[in-house]
Amino acid sequence: MGRLKILVAITGASGALYAQRLLDNLDPRTHEIHVVESRYAQQVIAAELPGGLKAPAGATLHSLKSMNAPFASGSNPPDVMVVIPCTMGTMGRIAHGYSEDVLLRAADVALKERKKLILVPRETPLSLVHVKNMELLLLAGAVILPANPGFYSGAKTIEQLADTVVARVLDHMGIENELAPRWEEEKE
Ligand SMILES: Cc1cc2nc3c(=O)[nH]c(=O)nc-3n(C[C@H](O)[C@H](O)[C@H](O)COP(=O)(O)O)c2cc1C
Repeated sequence: MGRLKILVAITGASGALYAQRLLDNLDPRTHEIHVVESRYAQQVIAAELPGGLKAPAGATLHSLKSMNAPFASGSNPPDVMVVIPCTMGTMGRIAHGYSEDVLLRAADVALKERKKLILVPRETPLSLVHVKNMELLLLAGAVILPANPGFYSGAKTIEQLADTVVARVLDHMGIENELAPRWEEEKE
């Protein structure tokens, strides 16, 4: 696997820990890592991550309102964009082509350039509006990977439980990982 240009977008849904655990498992020496947060992400991060979000040294943080980021243009898209966690608001805006900030524009670019766009919603229950937006996004080529932890892994901590979701995200990004036990895998 070559060096990937990865954009991790964090929105104001519950589940900031998923974003943190994903960032903890991305190595900026191996991949080019970019991070952008929605306006409301900060509020949820403050409520859910006592020490705040820690991006790995070497990751590039982008301002939401500046389009001076490579992936604002189809000429320089990310190889993979992950919106984690993804609010229903952001999902709806991506599904309907709103591109008024760099997070939304990058998702628009990822879809039109046929790059991988992985959306990690947490919302429950879902309304028909949410499901229809998801249908549109699936038809447009996005991967919808709900933050539903797997309990068969025997996780003992919240981090381990979160990692059962993050492992699937890494799998879909094409990044090898041993973050969570795989079903029926031989134990060494
Ligand atoms: C503590 C907290 C948790 C939230 N959790 C969710 C959630 O799980 N899913 C969701 O769609 N919105 C959630 N919201 C609401 C969003 O933050 C709100 O709709 C916001 O406008 C989303 O903006 P964004 O998509 O630009 O981040 C939450 C808000 C707060 C304060």
